[in-house]
Amino acid sequence: MKKVFTIFTLAVLLMPAAFADEGMWIPMLLGKNQAAMQKAGMHITAKDIYDINNACLKDAIILFNQGCTGEFVSDQGLFLTNHHCGYYYITSNSTVEHDYLTHGFWAMERNQEIPCKGLTATRLVRMENVTNRVLEGVDDKTPEAERERIVKQNIAILSVEAVAGTHYKAVIKPFYYGNQYFMYINEVFTDVRLVGAPPSNIGKFGGDTDNWMWPRHTGDFSMFRVYVGKDGKPANYSKTNVPYKPLKHLDISLKGVDEGDFTFVFGYPGTTQRYVTHDQVDLQALQENPVRIALRDIRLRHYNAAMNQSPAQRLKYASKVASIANGWKKWQGETLGILRLKGVQQKKDQEAAFQAWADKRPEYKNVLRDMGRAYDRLRPIELEWTYFNEAVMASDFMNRAYKLWSMARQTIDNDSLARIECDKLIAANQKYFEDFELHSPVDRAIFVETFLYMWRAGYSPYLDKKGKDEAGVQRMLENIYDKSMLNNHSKYDKFLKSYKAKNWQKVLNDPAVDLFSVAYSYAYTPDKETDYDINRREINRLMRTYVRGMMQQFPDSNFFPDANLTLRVAYGHVQGFRPKDAVYYTPYSTLEGIMEKENPDIYDYVVEPRLKELYNNHDYGRYANAKGEMPVAFIATNHTTGGNSGSPVLNADGQLIGINFDRCWEGTMSDLLFDPNYCRNISLDIRYCLFIIDKFAGAKHLIDEMTIVN
Ligand code: ARG
Ligand code: GLU
Repeated sequence: MKKVFTIFTLAVLLMPAAFADEGMWIPMLLGKNQAAMQKAGMHITAKDIYDINNACLKDAIILFNQGCTGEFVSDQGLFLTNHHCGYYYITSNSTVEHDYLTHGFWAMERNQEIPCKGLTATRLVRMENVTNRVLEGVDDKTPEAERERIVKQNIAILSVEAVAGTHYKAVIKPFYYGNQYFMYINEVFTDVRLVGAPPSNIGKFGGDTDNWMWPRHTGDFSMFRVYVGKDGKPANYSKTNVPYKPLKHLDISLKGVDEGDFTFVFGYPGTTQRYVTHDQVDLQALQENPVRIALRDIRLRHYNAAMNQSPAQRLKYASKVASIANGWKKWQGETLGILRLKGVQQKKDQEAAFQAWADKRPEYKNVLRDMGRAYDRLRPIELEWTYFNEAVMASDFMNRAYKLWSMARQTIDNDSLARIECDKLIAANQKYFEDFELHSPVDRAIFVETFLYMWRAGYSPYLDKKGKDEAGVQRMLENIYDKSMLNNHSKYDKFLKSYKAKNWQKVLNDPAVDLFSVAYSYAYTPDKETDYDINRREINRLMRTYVRGMMQQFPDSNFFPDANLTLRVAYGHVQGFRPKDAVYYTPYSTLEGIMEKENPDIYDYVVEPRLKELYNNHDYGRYANAKGEMPVAFIATNHTTGGNSGSPVLNADGQLIGINFDRCWEGTMSDLLFDPNYCRNISLDIRYCLFIIDKFAGAKHLIDEMTIVN
């Protein structure tokens, strides 16, 4: 028995095609998955999800700007997405008097809805496989640069032709590393208005502490509405625009889900790297991630300490810290996940099996060897850039040096442009120096410590040259900070006011600008950049061959293409998991857990009085589950990634049961390797969302627009 099991596992491991529950599938080709989906519990058909002749679920899905997903829930253009997706529009429309981030925002009437400048909602009209037309004029012998040129040209022509005479926009994207191309015909809406958002201690409950974690209790949703011109077509904001009537909006189910129930996620996953070789897994998860994490540790330590000192400092650093911490935490999970899975070895085993197959096939014989060589050339450059981005570009101080330096470089010979740019810097300084006393110690410490870290790691030869010991380097860095005019308001202003383009080199007299420019020219030399491009292009070409080879090696497998911010379907089951020995996570959380976490002294865990009142009165209305609990979030085995935020989570009947907003930390390696034992997406239970809108905010008129099925 044991032997059979081992052989079976090995065969599965050596096959790069998808595991059960793994995959982000192309809606147009979902017919291929239909049997499996129905076997897994789905009651509807692939055509109910994607159909170009009839309104279908895809008409209810939108791409929210270029990085999140949303779904229509009313016939008047109302849609849901995450709070963290709407975050910018919530904060940028807030003032001290109307702080929507803190207190939430609910438009009680249509005319209170807030136009969001620049925000777009994109609906897929239809998609098409255009591989043959994109690759017209290309064959196996076409040199790579020539191929790129032809492909680019074909895409340009095709995407104009395809939408001529319509108000649609066409996007063409490579799949399977350029083995295939699909065209997306889109309708882009440009009048999108903020309708509602819970207070941040609901919408961001748990903050960065709980981010990427289960159990989770974040009410991560916000609501917007699409408006169109009187003709029903997309139009820029105008008072006379009317709510858009989508071809389809989602039915909402209050039935909820139980462990084992089928679910699917329909949205816009951004990037995955499922088919890369061990070189990339090793470089990213075992070499780059640790560097990024360590350097972000330094920044986070200082920002967090500052944030705990005063509300003003908390506000100042909140969004900066949210974005630094998001990657920092995800990468830790990713690296641990890869180590747990022995991901590099797993990839090597797959590659060995591929090589055995390829040895007899000249077309594929050398692809892995050449890939290894390209990575050997790429690796040192990539690592240097990681240091440069996470250390040099990470401190506000160096960023300001960078701004002055690039102003000088870009305005050589152009005094009037220099004047304009200097005035911008003067204005920025005004703001910067307002609370200089408060943030300067933080900036200084971050600058000194990140550079020291880089020096210790041997990645800053421009510091090494000065032949100092660690204390000496530290003193030198402190001196640079203290002596730089960038930290002296009147001196820096004076410099900018009298700045002359022809004397641009004078900026280099400042020790900070000098340091930056040396670091920059060390990291970015024309040779390195060219080498990087050549090797990345080469790797891309080799990946195209390698992936094509794998598809031939396993002709019976259904390979899903890596995510590329196009509409996809992922499906799986509601399921708990064992993150570590002796611990089992059940698949859903409740309001009970919010009260358990409540701590008025910890910012992330403050609970709104009104929410407590509802809790104490058990006033959940029709939104409670069968046990009388108020469900908040649930986890499932759907394969998702960044960009899937805000995606609808649907049940076997295609009804909305949740809004995707995160993944469990232990499974964040799923961008590289999926493990059904650990990979879980986290969704907001739609019943909690409706409960907050209805019971908490009293915005029943919004609920009345929706189609709720029981
Ligand atoms: N981890 C989620 C994502 O990748 C949520 C990020 C925003 N929330 C936060 N606490 N930083 O986008
Ligand atoms: N929060 C992520 C987003 O903004 C989704 C989490 C993930 O990476 O799966 O898309």
